[in-house]
Amino acid sequence: MERLLVTGGAGFIGSNFVHHVVNHTDLHVTVLDKLTYAASRESIAGLPEGRVELVVGDIADDDAVDPLVAAHDAVVHFAAESHNDNSLHDPSPFIRTNILGSYTILEAVRRHDKRLHHVSTDEVYGDLELDDPKRFTEDTPYNPSSPYSASKAGSDHLVRAWVRSFGVRATVSNCSNNYGPWQHIEKFIPRQITNVIDGIRPKLYGSGENVRDWIHADDHSSAVLAILERGRIGETYLIGADGEKNNLEVVRLILRLMGRSEDDFDHVTDRAGHDLRYAIESGKLRQELGWQPRFQDFESGLADTIRWYQEHEDWWRPHKDATEAKYAEKGQ
Ligand code: NAD
Ligand code: DAU
Repeated sequence: MERLLVTGGAGFIGSNFVHHVVNHTDLHVTVLDKLTYAASRESIAGLPEGRVELVVGDIADDDAVDPLVAAHDAVVHFAAESHNDNSLHDPSPFIRTNILGSYTILEAVRRHDKRLHHVSTDEVYGDLELDDPKRFTEDTPYNPSSPYSASKAGSDHLVRAWVRSFGVRATVSNCSNNYGPWQHIEKFIPRQITNVIDGIRPKLYGSGENVRDWIHADDHSSAVLAILERGRIGETYLIGADGEKNNLEVVRLILRLMGRSEDDFDHVTDRAGHDLRYAIESGKLRQELGWQPRFQDFESGLADTIRWYQEHEDWWRPHKDATEAKYAEKGQ
């Protein structure tokens, strides 16, 4: 394998993955990205000349996708509409990109017999009770709650069908909540960090008891690379780093690390259909592929992330007012 096509490589996790691949392999990377509001060219700028190339295009446009897939050895498919709150406001781009776009990628890899890794989310499994001793495994039944997670579940089912019916050489991963550099400030952690920088009180949906299972984006990247290189075709791997925390704990930790009172936040209108708890059992990935997360200490990973947003104000500042205005309309 020499040439890798990475869809959505100018977004949060895709760009972290491109950096990871450049630092840990000799692969040449082509990024196919539509450059939606969630993307940034800067996130992949400055990488070694000749190693990374950006093609601006839509994964739902077969004229753009087909020749690129033909010219590469493998595709890692990150491109998606990714924010639950946006999907509640307007599901249409989620259906188009996440379902039709994934279908377009699948048909191209089928035509050209290329290896595909499809990146998905733990949200396809729905949610768990707070006191449930179980965590999600590869055998948990699908039960998505939001238009976003339903569209990702649809794309996962398409991949599984293309493997079984057409022999497409694909793997799937379902990962928990990522944090780290280059995450859009609409998302929970960077929204609260940039709120604190701006002197705005952090906003907690509902009671704040909802639990997310946090993993650093670089650990997600190393897991995806391991699955691409050594995963068994047709298999699904869950990716998680045992990072369960409720939202209240995360907000309090951000406030403490930023030198503010831990009570300096507001409860706001809850998200419709808000999933209560996600938790990943990642034993299959660890045992089969020997993968381990590098960021085992959430507090120090969060401290690094806070520092990154403090040092990259020029990157997020142009989006802050519009992002907060959108939330304010919904009382959030
Ligand atoms: P993101 O919103 O930050 O980035 C998505 C990228 O896809 C952007 O660069 C955007 O321009 C691009 N894109 C969107 N529509 C496109 C289209 N039609 N054609 C080409 N490019 C398009 O998302 P993210 O948080 O980096 O998530 C990346 C992937 O990882 C998604 O598939 C998501 O479901 C999955 N995932 C995310 C998380 C998380 O915590 N963020 C966890 C598990 C899985
Ligand atoms: O689990 C993986 C998923 O994690 C990915 O598939 C999604 O692409 C990614 O966006 C993320 O989904 P969440 O909905 O969990 O992430 P978000 O950052 O939007 O919210 C995290 C939690 O914080 C959730 O319980 C809602 C809450 N929240 C969010 C925002 C933006 C708040 O309490 N306040 C906020 O301002």
